[in-house]
Amino acid sequence: MLTACGSSATPQEDTATGRLSCVPEFRAPGRVNLIGDHTDYNDGFALPLAVDLACVVRASPRDDGVVRITSDAFDSVVQVPADGSADPREVEPDWGRLVAGVIRSLAARGRAPAGIDADVASTVPSGAGLSSSAAFEVAVALALCAAAGLEVEPRELARACRDAEELATGVPCGLMDQLASLCGRRDSALLLDCRSLDLEPVPLPDGLAVLVVDSGVERALENTAYAERRAECEAIAARLGLASLRDATAEQVADEPRARHVVSENARVLTFADALRRRDVDALGPLLLASHASLRDDYDVSTPELDALVEQLVSAGALGARLTGAGFGGSVVALVPAVGADAIARAVDAPSRLVRAVDGAARIR
Ligand code: GLA
Repeated sequence: MLTACGSSATPQEDTATGRLSCVPEFRAPGRVNLIGDHTDYNDGFALPLAVDLACVVRASPRDDGVVRITSDAFDSVVQVPADGSADPREVEPDWGRLVAGVIRSLAARGRAPAGIDADVASTVPSGAGLSSSAAFEVAVALALCAAAGLEVEPRELARACRDAEELATGVPCGLMDQLASLCGRRDSALLLDCRSLDLEPVPLPDGLAVLVVDSGVERALENTAYAERRAECEAIAARLGLASLRDATAEQVADEPRARHVVSENARVLTFADALRRRDVDALGPLLLASHASLRDDYDVSTPELDALVEQLVSAGALGARLTGAGFGGSVVALVPAVGADAIARAVDAPSRLVRAVDGAARIR
């Protein structure tokens, strides 16, 4: 069971009374996906890790049925009813739409309309492909669950947060980001089976580091062809009489580039996870490069900036690199030798950071 309603809290001085009170804090990490993109909504496989960049929400209860949130990223204040009655698409300021989405989706799962006063601080850059919105949704959801005394199993909480994202933005995203944020494991990637929702932590090899390079092309998924790609996949599966492209064979989709990507990417994820288990480091780089080529050529979600970064990283000594997340901009992920990682980062013409795999979301001190 998730530590959603644990007991640790940060003592804070109450400004009105001067007494120490406990303001609970919840931390939810962003994620980077090592391999397996545009597979989650096709019931497929993905291999993300939760990273050491996080959204932290401090929240104290209110007794007037209102959720009031401030953020270090915005000057505005979000104030919405705690019962889910606010339509997420209508909320202003618009960063409050995800908040209203989370409230509505938890209300649908039986959360009592307990209000909170909360503030949010995040180190997950937005628009960079590191799931800042999933981290935000998960941290807010944990705070809302705790305030209402509701315990939600992590997979169901991931579903609630995914639904919140769709309610707020209209984007029919998959479950990978929220599952990674909730269930990440220190020093490991998480092999996700997005059909069964089985998760297997797969330890990352010593001696390798994960480098994330930001292309600087910011994008919000609602302004991309993300929904169109998902619809294309569902149409092909329906035409083949399959529940999803998870069930398609390479032969069935040989002439369908979108589906070909999904089928080949699922196979690459499983091969990659197996190579990690066997410590077969030499197998990893070529799989990353094949994934990028498939996302670029078959799925058509890369950009010239992402392609150039992949090339630069490989020339600078990375084992392999690929766009990570939805594409259309955002970041590239590379596996690099830990010794020499800084030199590779410096050789690339864009902001980069080395990330570590961390445990999933929790209540923290
Ligand atoms: C976004 C979505 C995820 C997933 C990736 C692509 O991050 O939120 O559900 O579909 O794109 O793999």
